[in-house]
Order: sequence, then C-alpha cells, then structure tokens
Amino acid sequence: MVELLRKLKRALVAWRERAKVRSEAARAFRYDERQFMQNAGALHLDRKAAARAEIVMGYHVLEKGLTMPRRRLGFGKGAVVHLVNLIGSFERRFGTDDSQVRHAVAVLRAYRELHSESPDPMPRLDAFLAAHPDVPAADEPHVKRSDFFEAKEAPFPQFAASRHVCRHFAGPVPAETIKSAVELALTAPSACNRQHARVHVIDDSGLRDRLFAAQGGTRGFGSDADKVLVVTSDLSAVRWGWERHDCYVNGGIFVMNLCYALHYFGVAHCILHWSVSPEVDRAAHEFLGIPPNEAIVQVIACGMPPEEFDVAASPRLAVSDVLTWHGGEK
Ligand SMILES: Cc1cc2nc3c(=O)[nH]c(=O)nc-3n(C[C@H](O)[C@H](O)[C@H](O)COP(=O)(O)O)c2cc1C
Repeated sequence: MVELLRKLKRALVAWRERAKVRSEAARAFRYDERQFMQNAGALHLDRKAAARAEIVMGYHVLEKGLTMPRRRLGFGKGAVVHLVNLIGSFERRFGTDDSQVRHAVAVLRAYRELHSESPDPMPRLDAFLAAHPDVPAADEPHVKRSDFFEAKEAPFPQFAASRHVCRHFAGPVPAETIKSAVELALTAPSACNRQHARVHVIDDSGLRDRLFAAQGGTRGFGSDADKVLVVTSDLSAVRWGWERHDCYVNGGIFVMNLCYALHYFGVAHCILHWSVSPEVDRAAHEFLGIPPNEAIVQVIACGMPPEEFDVAASPRLAVSDVLTWHGGEK
C-alpha cells in the first residue's frame, strides 16, 4: 500500500512537471510569434535594417552568380534590375552612407565589367553606375587551393579570416576526413554539456539531389557536391519550456565548429539554410530517415576543392555596426 502511494505520488509529480513544461512552451512560442510578427524584416521593409538586409540578399545573389563554377554570361538580369531599384529606394530614404549598400553598387559594377563585351545594352545599369562614379568594382577573389587553405595552421585570427564557403567541388571527401572533422567539431560547447548535435552524412547522389531540390539554395553548384552533412539537434536533450530555441542555438554553435574543422582538413564546404516549410521538413525527415526527435538545423554541402576557384567577397559589417556598450567602456 505504501509502495503504491509512493508510485502514485511520483506519477503525480511527473505529470505536474510535464504540464508545466507544456504550458511554458506554449507561452514561449506565443511570445516568439508576437516578436516575429512585430519585427521580422520581411514584414517591415520600411525599416532601414530590413531594407539593408534585402539589398545584401540582392547583391549576394549576384556575387554567387559571379563566382559560380560554370558561370554563363547574361545571368541574373532580373536580379540586377531588382537590386538597382532596391538601392535607389534605400538611398532616397536613408542616404548613401552605408558600407553594405556601397558594396552592392560595387557588385553591380563588377557585373557590368564582366559584361563589357556583351552586345546586350544595359542602359538602366549604366545610368545607375554613372550616378555612383566613386564606387569601384567589387573584387571577387580568384584563389589557388593552396592559398585558400594556407592559414589552416595559422593563429586563430588568420585562420578565422581565411574560412569562407566554397561552392566549387572537384572530388570525394574521404570518410576518415569526415569522421575527423566531426570529432574536432565535438569540441563545441553545449548547454550543460548535453551535446544536442548529430550529423547525418548523405553519401548518395539521388538523396542529395532530392534534398537540394527541397532546400532550393544550391542552383549551379549543388550537383557537384560529393557529400552532404545534415546537422540535427536532438530534442530529447531539452529539459524545460523556455529552452525552445536551444536545439538551434546548440546546433548552430556545432555547425560553426564543424565548418572550421572542415576548413582545417582542407574540405570545401558550403553551409545551406534549412528555412523550409513544415511539409518539406517532414518529407526530408522521411526520405533521409532522420528520426522525428531530431530537428534539422543546417545542411552543409562538401567536396574536395579544385586547384583554383572563385570565392564571393561577402564583406562584413564594421565592429561599430554590431557592438553596443551598455555602460562601462565605449
Ligand atoms: C545559416 C546560413 C544559411 C546559408 N544558406 C546558404 C544557401 O542556401 N546557399 C548558399 O549558396 N549559401 C548559403 N550560405 C552561405 C552564406 O552565403 C555565406 O556564409 C555568407 O555569404 C558569408 O560568406 P563566407 O561564409 O564565405 O564568409 C548560408 C550561410 C549560413 C550561415
């Protein structure tokens, strides 16, 4: 009888604990939804930061086009017009003093220079560039493999600065190298050392193509990838409702470490978003055989790099753009 009462008490405590987590999680997701609706750039393009982000995405599309493995002239005509319009609108509203917007102009000039021999006239782009005479063409580096990986043994500042995504793949990555990179990535910190991250290696071109078709961010280079690493985060490690972002935070930290590890081992890799609809996410879980308790955090295309290739410049914001002091030093 006493034992039965003890069991009942334990079951009641566990039930109350689960009810608390459910109610906290529901409250937290409602809070996230409100925060998203009130602030996501896509819903507030009148704000400067959102307008800038749209321009960065616009120039990034062209930078990718400029540095693709099988670049063909005349690509991205619609993207050029769109970017010219976005920059015009930004400058009218917020002025011209913005390093990322200047880089967008520089990418447009690089695009125009690449097409200098093109028989197709580009009067709109020419007029736009004539109005920005002080912005030179962006430099999208063409590098030798040995130079790209030269800093892999260098002190961290040089090593970190040398890592970039590479969308040029020329050969298979040995399984041992993947294992070594994952082992190194396991040095990533995680909340209470719960180590949420898992890695699924997609080593089958059919599955790769299906995954990339669903993901949508690999046009022009995805079919060259030798392997795809799908980084997931095990929701089993989540302990309470407020931890609703933890699988992505811990998974994201692991992804960064894995990218550094791949770079260290000389593997070309490109991080790919997993911002997909619930239907696509569910389908990918099924056709890849990923258990439902693992949330897909990120996808990484990889392969061994060719002898030479192009890298998108992707310039960074200034420290002053991202650093805010709250009291103390300035
Ligand atoms: C979360 C995330 C999602 C990304 N998604 C894509 C993608 O779908 N396709 C792609 O070609 N690059 C993608 N990238 C690569 C970025 O474009 C690249 O990291 C960025 O431009 C900075 O360049 P760098 O990594 O060479 O320094 C992604 C990067 C991150 C971090």
